[in-house]
Amino acid sequence: MLIVKFFRKQQFGSFFIKATLFVSIIIQAAVLNAQQVTMLTSGTRASFRGLSVVNNNIVWVSGSNGTVGRSTNAGKTWQWHSVKGFEKTEFRDIEAFDSNTAIIMAIAEPAYILRTTDGGQNWSTVYKNDRKGMFLDAVDFYNEKYGMVVGDPLNGKFYIAVTENAGKSWKEWPEFHLPVADSGEACFASSGTNIRMTGVFSFVLASGGISSNFFPTWNKKVKIPLLQGKESTGANSVAVYRKKIMLVGGDFNAKDSTNGNICFSANRGKTFNISEMPPSGYRSSVEHLYKKTWITCGLNGVDISNDDGKTFRKISSDGFHVVRKAKKGKAVFLAGGGGRVAWLQ
Ligand SMILES: *[C@@H]1O[C@H](CO)[C@@H](O)[C@H](O)[C@H]1NC(C)=O
Ligand SMILES: *[C@@H]1O[C@H](CO)[C@@H](O)[C@H](O)[C@H]1NC(C)=O
Ligand SMILES: *[C@@H]1O[C@H](CO)[C@@H](O)[C@H](O)[C@H]1NC(C)=O
Repeated sequence: MLIVKFFRKQQFGSFFIKATLFVSIIIQAAVLNAQQVTMLTSGTRASFRGLSVVNNNIVWVSGSNGTVGRSTNAGKTWQWHSVKGFEKTEFRDIEAFDSNTAIIMAIAEPAYILRTTDGGQNWSTVYKNDRKGMFLDAVDFYNEKYGMVVGDPLNGKFYIAVTENAGKSWKEWPEFHLPVADSGEACFASSGTNIRMTGVFSFVLASGGISSNFFPTWNKKVKIPLLQGKESTGANSVAVYRKKIMLVGGDFNAKDSTNGNICFSANRGKTFNISEMPPSGYRSSVEHLYKKTWITCGLNGVDISNDDGKTFRKISSDGFHVVRKAKKGKAVFLAGGGGRVAWLQ
């Protein structure tokens, strides 16, 4: 608009006014569609569900075949490691602290958490559990010290272990303080984002399966308007911004269905609304970007909302399992099957 005014003042002929109006329309269209998913070259075919973005340059991913990748230049180049002794393990979640230090999580039989302090060359086992039924879903950290890992229910209660020293050691959370699960209620280990810490050992949790719920805290449970009733249905991911909560999921066996795939709350989960224009399919991960802007991804693409979830717009048809924003910085990365990694421009 500024450009148009400038040329009008100069009293150019109508052709120039039309031409500059046209240019200004193109510029406005470009701004509206500014968010673009740009593919990066990973050089591997592993499937990624773990993603941790430390800052605008340092990014770690983890996934199938014991694969862990690290980039220190915003994804331009990657160093790949197949974790020794874990070449067949799938690391479903990762939390990185800097370019050298990270932990990775393996779900079951046995469940493991490993830690590196040399950029991923050597890993040490900091947690191992071969209890029957043990299945870890996601790790989250409140800051550089305090973290939690959540697992599927054992004897009717979700499993939680905590760390106070950046993942160097873990201890089981007292049984008394564990969220109670309904029959057929569990978590999905699809993107490492169904638990989000909101303080030192305070957290919100999203569950799925036959019963899908939101836990604003360990001893409160809210029924959510997401698809549920089958093992493949329910919430896969939760994101939090102040009092706002966004939950995504659906049915991972119906990747294009928008049925019950999103809900959001402005009052920390007291009440939930559903979108007028939901994301374009089953969604496994959601992240808050800034103000009213949220991003979500799944097997059939990536969508963005600029109005706190009321309406979503598809920005890519490339499938991803997980989307994460830099803990310190603005960079946003995505990772998925077939070695796919990308960044949001
Ligand atoms: C995992 O490793 C196996 C055997 O080494 C290989 O055949 C397969 O293609 C690998 N899969 C991925 C996704 O990297
Ligand atoms: C760490 O890994 C490097 C490279 O694989 C190896 O040379 C070194 O001996 C390892 N260090 C330890 C303490 O295992
Ligand atoms: C949810 O819907 C109600 C009723 O339409 C509306 O008043 C409220 O503002 C909505 N909340 C959010 C967070 O959009």
